[in-house]
Amino acid sequence: MSFVLRSSQAQTSGRRYGFCGIELAHPIVNGSGTFDAIAARRAFGDALLDRFPFAAFVSKTVTLEPRQGNPPPRLWELGAGMINSIGLPNKGLAGYLADDLPQLAELPVPLIVNVMGSSPDQVATLVAAFAERDEVAALELNISCPNVRTGLLMGADPGETAALLDAVRPRTAKPLIVKLTPNCASPAAVAAAAEQHGADAVSLVNTLRGMAMDPRRPGEPWLGGGTGGVSGPAVRTIALAQVREVRERVRLPIVGMGGVQTGRHARDLLDAGADLVGVGTESFRDPLAGNRIAVELQRIGANSGMNGATSQPARPRISQNS
Ligand SMILES: Cc1cc2nc3c(=O)[nH]c(=O)nc-3n(C[C@H](O)[C@H](O)[C@H](O)COP(=O)(O)O)c2cc1C
Repeated sequence: MSFVLRSSQAQTSGRRYGFCGIELAHPIVNGSGTFDAIAARRAFGDALLDRFPFAAFVSKTVTLEPRQGNPPPRLWELGAGMINSIGLPNKGLAGYLADDLPQLAELPVPLIVNVMGSSPDQVATLVAAFAERDEVAALELNISCPNVRTGLLMGADPGETAALLDAVRPRTAKPLIVKLTPNCASPAAVAAAAEQHGADAVSLVNTLRGMAMDPRRPGEPWLGGGTGGVSGPAVRTIALAQVREVRERVRLPIVGMGGVQTGRHARDLLDAGADLVGVGTESFRDPLAGNRIAVELQRIGANSGMNGATSQPARPRISQNS
C-alpha cells in the first residue's frame, strides 16, 4: 500500500486548533492503542511523517512494569466494530523511555502519552517520569483500572478519580487528560470530580465491556480474557450521549471518540460538545482514516457551535429514556 494522500490536506487550511495550550493543525487525533506509529513508520517510511494522519499522536497505554497482555484469541469482529481483549501489552516505563519515546519524538505532531497504574502512587510515578521529558506535550490517564488497595475501578467512582488526581496533579505541569470509562453509573460525575481535582481535559469513550461466545464450545467465551472492550460503529451513539452529558457537567475541553468513521461522525461529536475527536477502530480498516476524516470535516466546517471555547449548548438538554 502506498502512503499517499491525493485529496487536499487538512493541514493546508491554515487554521490552528488550541487544546490545553497545544497548537494543532486540525481537530482529529487517534484513540490510544489503535494506531502503531512505530510499526507504521517501518511500513511506510518517512512518507508517514510527511502525511501523518493525526494532529497529535496518543501513545498506547504505558504501565510501570512490562505487560504481556491477555491470552489469545484477542479479537472478535462484530457486525459493527469489534471486541478486543488485548490486555495492554507494553514494554513498561523503562522500555518505553528507552525504545519507544525516541522514535515517537520524531513524529511531526505533539505527543500525548497514555499511562495507567493500579494505584494512585503508581500513576504518580509514571506521570513524574514523563513530566520532565520535553518530547511529551501532555499525558492521558487511562483510569479503566481497579485500584489494588480498594478494589474499586478508579474511573468508575468519583472519589477514586479525585484521589488519583490529588496524587498525580502535583507531579506535573503538563496538561492532564483523564480518559473516562463508559462502564460506570455516571461518567459525567467522574468528569466533574476530575475537573474539581485539577484535570485539564477529559477524553471519552473508552471501550464498553462486552463478550462473545465461542461458536464451537458452548458456554465458553471466545476471547482469552473472557470479556473485552467493544469499539467501532456499535458504540457511536453511546459516545454521543456520553459526550453530551459530560459537556453539560464540565467546562473542560473534551476529546470525544467512539465509532468515528467519517467527517460527519466527527462533526456530530463536536456538536455534542467535544473540542477534539479521536479515531480508533476505523484506523485498522483505513490507516489514513485520520487525515481523510479531517479533510471531510474541513469540508463540512470544523468549527464547533457549542464546545467549551465558544458557548453553551444550543440544543435541548438530555431527556430521560422512555
Ligand atoms: C485494539 C484496541 C486497543 C486499544 N488500546 C487502548 C489503550 O491502550 N489505552 C486506552 O486508553 N484505550 C485503548 N483503546 C480504546 C480506544 O482508544 C478508544 O477509546 C475506543 O476504541 C473507542 O473509539 P473507536 O470506537 O473509534 O475505536 C483501544 C481500543 C482498541 C479497539
